[in-house]
Amino acid sequence: MFDPGFLWGAATSSYQIEGAVAEDGRGPSIWDTFAATPGAIQGGDTGAVAADHYHRFPGDVALMAGLGLRGYRFSLAWPRIQPTGSGAVNQRGLDFYRRLTDTLLDQGIQPWPTLYHWDLPQPLEDRGGWPARDTAERFAEYAALVHEALGDRVTHWTTLNEPWCSAFLGYATGRHAPGRRDPAAAVRAAHHLLLGHGLAAEAIRGDDSHVGITLNLTHVTPVGTEPADLDAARRIDGMQNRLFLDPLLRGAYPDDVLADLREVTGFGHVHDGDLKRIGASLDHLGVNYYAPMLVAGSSTPTQSAYVGSPLVRVADGGRPRTAMGWEIDERGLLELLLRLKDDYPAVPLYITENGAAFDDVVEHDGVHDAHRVAYLDGHLRSCAQAIGHGVPLKGYFVWSLLDNFEWSFGYGPRFGIVHVDYATQHRTPKDSARWYAEVIRRGGL
Ligand code: FCB
Repeated sequence: MFDPGFLWGAATSSYQIEGAVAEDGRGPSIWDTFAATPGAIQGGDTGAVAADHYHRFPGDVALMAGLGLRGYRFSLAWPRIQPTGSGAVNQRGLDFYRRLTDTLLDQGIQPWPTLYHWDLPQPLEDRGGWPARDTAERFAEYAALVHEALGDRVTHWTTLNEPWCSAFLGYATGRHAPGRRDPAAAVRAAHHLLLGHGLAAEAIRGDDSHVGITLNLTHVTPVGTEPADLDAARRIDGMQNRLFLDPLLRGAYPDDVLADLREVTGFGHVHDGDLKRIGASLDHLGVNYYAPMLVAGSSTPTQSAYVGSPLVRVADGGRPRTAMGWEIDERGLLELLLRLKDDYPAVPLYITENGAAFDDVVEHDGVHDAHRVAYLDGHLRSCAQAIGHGVPLKGYFVWSLLDNFEWSFGYGPRFGIVHVDYATQHRTPKDSARWYAEVIRRGGL
């Protein structure tokens, strides 16, 4: 069961909710540029206004307090703090996050900041982006500046959100900013993201500062026992999970994944000493889980985010799906948590994202999102079972507090436990918000 100190929270990210993209000296990010590219985002949506959280944060924090949240995971927009990605601090940008953390603390809500949730300052992309080693150094410099400003009020830091997405959706498939399609660049980006994490951790770790990273992990199973299916599962597990977990928790890249990736690129970009830094960097690990993956071998090559694994296809597990088309299976979360416990050195774990988009209907008396309640209930049951099996799970953040800009899908998918009417910016807590508030009040299900 959940102990009394379990951190019950909700999560958001800067570009998805803040809006105010040209205010108080914020510079452009790769997502501003990408969103302005015709055809990149469904409906031509952009994050220019989003949920207008930049202006409405006091009301949003009051909403969180009303739900009884104990923690709030948000991200800082690097281009608000360093508009060009390096050099002096933009004080007005930093002050926004100072006010936000103070408001949270006043309400007894633990601020849980993520330093990077995909909004790279555009000038850094112009100089090579994550495929360039210099970006890792710049990230550590930025991390140190933020830590200096907020280190007296923040104890738990997350460096990166989902480096797999930054690297492979951003630089291999081009479905995310910056929209590049260069598999070798994506592999370099993955390493430099991990290096940036390691360097940032060195810069900010200390007695009162605990450092983590958030990974999007999944539970991968093969459709059958054919060698091609087993190999597909090994490769996808390698790319999605072990490529990140192994260097972070064991200090080395997995040999089989390196061999797969050598078909795409060499590893001259990995310097002596990098893995030592990456491998000594974690006080806790953030896990984002949405869906399991069922995979099969394929005889026709496909161009996918799984660089180095062309002969793989994602199969249909036959389960109900969310509005994103993601299969619903809370069992995958339990399997994943047990696997982390069995295969890796113990480190405190937090679910930093879990949730679902459904086609919500606004009725005269609210939003009755029973599907979302069922999804969250099932996944929290898996969390409770994992704890019962000795998994050191310390907290859970529902994705998301608010409906928001869902990247290349625009504003269509709604993940919030609070509905946002984008025309009026009116917030309406859905049934799931009330249900979650009750879970928190009781300390469990
Ligand atoms: C994760 C992202 C988050 C949100 C959810 C649905 O991959 O970290 O920003 O888009 O998916």
